Amino acid sequence: MDWGMKNRMSKLIKTKIGRAVWLAVDHGYFLGPISKLEQPAKTIEPLVPYCDALMLTRGVLRNCIDAGIDTPVILRASGGNSIVGKSLSNEGITASMEDAIRLNVSAVALSVYIGTEHEHQTLINLSKLIDEGQKYGIPVLAVTAVGKELEKRDARYLSLCCRICAELGAQMVKTYYCDDFEKVTKSCPIPVVIAGGPKLDTDEDAFKLAYEAIQQGAVGVDMGRNIWQSEFPVAKIRAIRAIVHENATVKKACELFKGLKK
Ligand code: R5P
Repeated sequence: MDWGMKNRMSKLIKTKIGRAVWLAVDHGYFLGPISKLEQPAKTIEPLVPYCDALMLTRGVLRNCIDAGIDTPVILRASGGNSIVGKSLSNEGITASMEDAIRLNVSAVALSVYIGTEHEHQTLINLSKLIDEGQKYGIPVLAVTAVGKELEKRDARYLSLCCRICAELGAQMVKTYYCDDFEKVTKSCPIPVVIAGGPKLDTDEDAFKLAYEAIQQGAVGVDMGRNIWQSEFPVAKIRAIRAIVHENATVKKACELFKGLKK
């Protein structure tokens, strides 16, 4: 790996601890003004000091984020679909590597939809983006998307998806937590982070998800709704940070959350 790519990766997954808490706020690219992200600047601003990277689209980056921030950016570079359209899996590349460099991002992210009618198209998109990233030292985060089919999230399917992304050359992969998650991380030779998925019933459930993922080999989380749809988003991300960066237990995270939300 060349110095530039290594340097970008080390900003995302801090070398010393090898862990990461990223804030995912890219949902609007196909969901529009999803609840609690209607005004991105307002939602994101208080959370920036507590995340190791922001994952978002170039539109929100340019219009809602202060260019003076030190936080690394993971640029969403796939889309072209919408929640009201025919097929969520029908994505293309929506941001060029030239624009990613202009925006000084630390990585680009693209979704693949394995097992869908657009499997081939999205995997070729991934390969093309990786080739472009290699030219300029920009790492690619592959996202193993499931669209509306959340029930697909099992170890057999997700380990297949993560491994394919790694084989095609992605530098990192984002997937879902599932039972037997170790099967996913053990068979994937690149760092794995987890998405949070739709907001869980309790805060403790979200802490359990992060804790189990880390214990079973994830390097971190790239979490959205379970943080910013919380009634106490800052307390929530800080408790998640304790799990990821300080190996806090679920009990400890709950106590911390309780104290911080006062
Ligand atoms: C899909 O909408 C995006 O790629 C999100 O970044 C991803 O699903 C993570 O966000 P959440 O934790 O809300 O699932």
